[in-house]
Amino acid sequence: MSIFDTPVDRRGSDAIKWGKYAGRDILPLWVADMDFAAPPAVLAALHRRVEHGVFGYGGPWPALTEAVLAHLEAEYEWSIEPEWIVWLPGLVTGLNVACRAVDGEVLTAMPIYPPFLSAPHFSGRTLHRAALTLADDRWQWDMAALGTAASAATRLFLLCHPHNPVGRCWSHDELLALAAFAEARDLIVCSDEIHCGLVLDNDKKHIPFASLSPDAAQRSITLLAPSKTFNIPGLGCALAVIPNPQLRQRFEHAMHGIVPHVNVLGLAACEAAYRDGQDWHRELIAYLRGNRDRVIAAVDGEKGVKMAPVEATYLAWIDVRDLGLTRPGAHFEAHGLGLSDGTDFGAPGWLRLNFGCPRSTLDEALRRFATACRTT
Ligand SMILES: Cc1ncc(COP(=O)(O)O)c(C=O)c1O
Repeated sequence: MSIFDTPVDRRGSDAIKWGKYAGRDILPLWVADMDFAAPPAVLAALHRRVEHGVFGYGGPWPALTEAVLAHLEAEYEWSIEPEWIVWLPGLVTGLNVACRAVDGEVLTAMPIYPPFLSAPHFSGRTLHRAALTLADDRWQWDMAALGTAASAATRLFLLCHPHNPVGRCWSHDELLALAAFAEARDLIVCSDEIHCGLVLDNDKKHIPFASLSPDAAQRSITLLAPSKTFNIPGLGCALAVIPNPQLRQRFEHAMHGIVPHVNVLGLAACEAAYRDGQDWHRELIAYLRGNRDRVIAAVDGEKGVKMAPVEATYLAWIDVRDLGLTRPGAHFEAHGLGLSDGTDFGAPGWLRLNFGCPRSTLDEALRRFATACRTT
């Protein structure tokens, strides 16, 4: 029995994941949060902060910065300077600020988490998209397609690492190829690494893009947060790491008057998660690995659906095109399962399933999944 086996009833709470289907028998496996309570160390830090009782304007404090630095060093052997950090209320904010801070056109890879598509648009930037390829049961970069997609005016590359929705933890060689590409085209790389603590395979390791080389560091904006790994996205606490002082200044300038301070509960949770969350995190990864394997077995057992291995994240990216459905999301909802529709990620005919939930919920969801696949 794992701590993650015990369901927490989120119905009737503030959870948008569960609220979407309130009053209907539809299990929500869509938006990317997990149905697990936060780590005990995080809950204790929040209780302590609430007991203090005063919630005036707040900002980061030295022990918090030390916790961030120590975490990045211990997990990724990545040494950063405190002044490289820019605190943010969320990563989507960071994507939008990056698009405003870097003059020029934007490039990204498809399929992709929808705010990568909307941020350039909101910022009045032209977006170029290059398709990832699925070859040998593995999502891969097509460097030629990336080169063709980029225009001479492209200055910003939005990288998702690990990648939502395809679940790849990009390897050292792949990252080196991307860094060489960025150098050749003189691109700033905004690397969204929100899922970096969710690498599921023992033989894989997250490598921050900025840690590849001094050149990669100087052209990087790395977006990070404890939010996915420790399941605290509702606390709105994230950070950008920007080693280049001029780029950091442009980023901070684009935030002025628009981006609020990070709330003090988010900062308190961040410190506790990064400093004291390791044991919980280890157990989480083992649990998610088990869930991932159940999803793979369920998908392998059905005709007309398939997926490539998920190396990182708690998201399975499933190809349902062979089922021949006109509205796949609606079809699965009709069978009691709420998934994310691939159309929003630029990939109609695909569905994203969030397996960050207790096994009892997942097993019921996978029963419904099988029925939906067989009833077309
Ligand atoms: C790649 C990626 N970036 C950003 C976010 C959201 O970040 P935030 O809630 O901090 O804005 C998500 C959430 O699913 C995500 O998957």
